[in-house]
Amino acid sequence: MSQPTRRIFVTSALPYANGPIHIGHLVEYIQTDIWVRFQKLRGHECHYLCADDAHGTPIMLRAEQDGVSPEQLIKRVWQEHRADFAEFLVEFDNYYSTHSPENRHYAELIYRRLDEGGHISRRVITQAYDPEKQMFLPDRFIKGECPRCGASDQYGDSCEVCGATYSPTDLKNPRSVVSGATPILKESLHFFFKLGDFEAMLKTWIASGPVQAQMANKLSEWFTAGLQEWDISRDAPYWGFEIPDAPGKYFYVWLDAPIGYMASLQNYCDRTGLNFNDFWNPDSDTEVYHFIGKDIAYFHILFWPAMLTGAGFRKPTAVHCHGFLTVDGQKMSKSRGTFIKARTYLNHLRPEYLRYYFASKLSDGIDDLDLNFEDFLQRVNSDLVGKVVNIASRCASFITRRFNGQLADNLAEPVLYAEFVVASDSIAQAYEQREFGRAMREIMALADRANQYIDEKKPWALAKQTGAVTEVQAVCSMGLNLFRLLALYLKPVLPGVAAHVEQFLHIPPLCWDDLATPLLDHAIAEFKPLMQRVEMAQITAMVEDSMESHPATEATPAKSGGPLADDPISPTITIEDFAKVDLRIARIVKAEAVAGADKLVRLELDLGGATRQVFAGIKSAYAPEDLQGRLTVIVANLAPRKMRFGVSEGMALAAGGGGGIYLLGPDSGAEPGMRVK
Ligand code: 2FM
Ligand code: ZN
Repeated sequence: MSQPTRRIFVTSALPYANGPIHIGHLVEYIQTDIWVRFQKLRGHECHYLCADDAHGTPIMLRAEQDGVSPEQLIKRVWQEHRADFAEFLVEFDNYYSTHSPENRHYAELIYRRLDEGGHISRRVITQAYDPEKQMFLPDRFIKGECPRCGASDQYGDSCEVCGATYSPTDLKNPRSVVSGATPILKESLHFFFKLGDFEAMLKTWIASGPVQAQMANKLSEWFTAGLQEWDISRDAPYWGFEIPDAPGKYFYVWLDAPIGYMASLQNYCDRTGLNFNDFWNPDSDTEVYHFIGKDIAYFHILFWPAMLTGAGFRKPTAVHCHGFLTVDGQKMSKSRGTFIKARTYLNHLRPEYLRYYFASKLSDGIDDLDLNFEDFLQRVNSDLVGKVVNIASRCASFITRRFNGQLADNLAEPVLYAEFVVASDSIAQAYEQREFGRAMREIMALADRANQYIDEKKPWALAKQTGAVTEVQAVCSMGLNLFRLLALYLKPVLPGVAAHVEQFLHIPPLCWDDLATPLLDHAIAEFKPLMQRVEMAQITAMVEDSMESHPATEATPAKSGGPLADDPISPTITIEDFAKVDLRIARIVKAEAVAGADKLVRLELDLGGATRQVFAGIKSAYAPEDLQGRLTVIVANLAPRKMRFGVSEGMALAAGGGGGIYLLGPDSGAEPGMRVK
């Protein structure tokens, strides 16, 4: 059963340091964490490292917008990310930052070695430049009209309306998202990594099987299209590391991001006394795995192994890609409330529900994974609460009350126990291959089998029979032994539950090899409920809390910096932009609570003739009856939005996002329907 110990180094993609972790991110961190916990449970030496991806233009601009330094921004986000991961039981052995001395060291080292090897070229290119802000503009920071369909407000690289892809110079009426200025074209010297130098090496490497079959197909498309030189430099102003001997030129964020894996490892080795070279030298027998989303495969399967090879380091053992998360079959959406931040989820639901749900749907493929709320509720309640936890609650009280917590001294059904042990090979194989859905199905089939055993033996009926005392103990001890194996098999997915089971059974932390030895003639502790059922109301409340247009839901704890520091002024808009928003005075004719929505009030509004229905997230601040008759201000030309309770035909304006919610109202004399300018 035991295998030789492996040394394994695992990473997840480094999240950007300018925004919160959301449930889309969590697919990957939960997937990786389960895999790592499984390896550790098997007794292998496994190290799980990550870091924040802390450089690049969006972080620089975000910090500026927030009125803080980039260092302050990345420090705050680092703390938030760490707290979110910890509460989701994603347990890194080290969580670092790409803005670190170790990362600068390795970025410079790798760059110098690539340059010495002749793999860096330099040439002048022409790019869009913001003459007001005096900076070159990444494609995403230029907007204009789509050259193909004419749709307005499209990014510089692709059109969200017709799907066309193009270069920013093709946009009609382009403008800088940063300042609103019309970009000009400007020349500048750039540095390129000659990816093509590594084509033969990459082809050989990929043939050795480090990526999934679906990704290997994608790769052959990339090879057919030809490996282009990769632009690795950016001009000042830029937030990142300056390139050695090239003042004013910085490494593009994507150059130093994967090097962050090494930096985190170096920092970890310095902390723990491990030897960095044991992991990264070309002859190392450590296994190295990167878990990533399929959207960043190009960076990890082409650029990264090429950079490593060019700089004399080893390549990863494998790169594991996964698909994206959809919610109820659609892309996560802020207006539908399905763009759910990790923190919002935690305010409503227990993290292990989501860990189990993702596990039950994950495979080693790259297809997207759908979170369907009905299915989520059903699986958690029926599998975890109804099947697994139920076994313990059916057996524990008899052992505690009648046998003083003492388990029987032999197994009632050794054959059944052996069936559970035999299943471990297949379950382990499923975990190893990242076929977590299969592992969960096999474990639930065992849970069914355990419940069936208890149903057949009916300890509650035996307990009433005279002369059946020993049998009650035997049956319940058997049930708890099966339960112990289920808890062990689920431990990578449900580490918190497993810890409670260990307390309840009064045993040291479970590890894989424990399964051979049943728990006999042993005193257990008192059973406490391990998991509650999920209620739809909790899910509804979480979705409501995630809806962007509800001021109440955006509320963050008041901080000392005051409202402006917490929610800084947005980028400038023109008077024409503002004129597009039709603000009107409206009288609240009727206001009522919405059944099933804690925060919403349904308003019927008179706009001086026309009537509108608007749902507003203001219930925490106003009793509906106090609102009737009041005048307020609404956005009258907001596209109607279908909500669960009906269509909202506008938006009532309120100040919020700190201590409270304050509905706006005009001075006396204003009348319904008047335009606000
Ligand atoms: O796509 C992203 O979110 C990047 N921050 C991932 C970087 S992974 C690694 F290369 F650092
Ligand atoms: Zn278009």
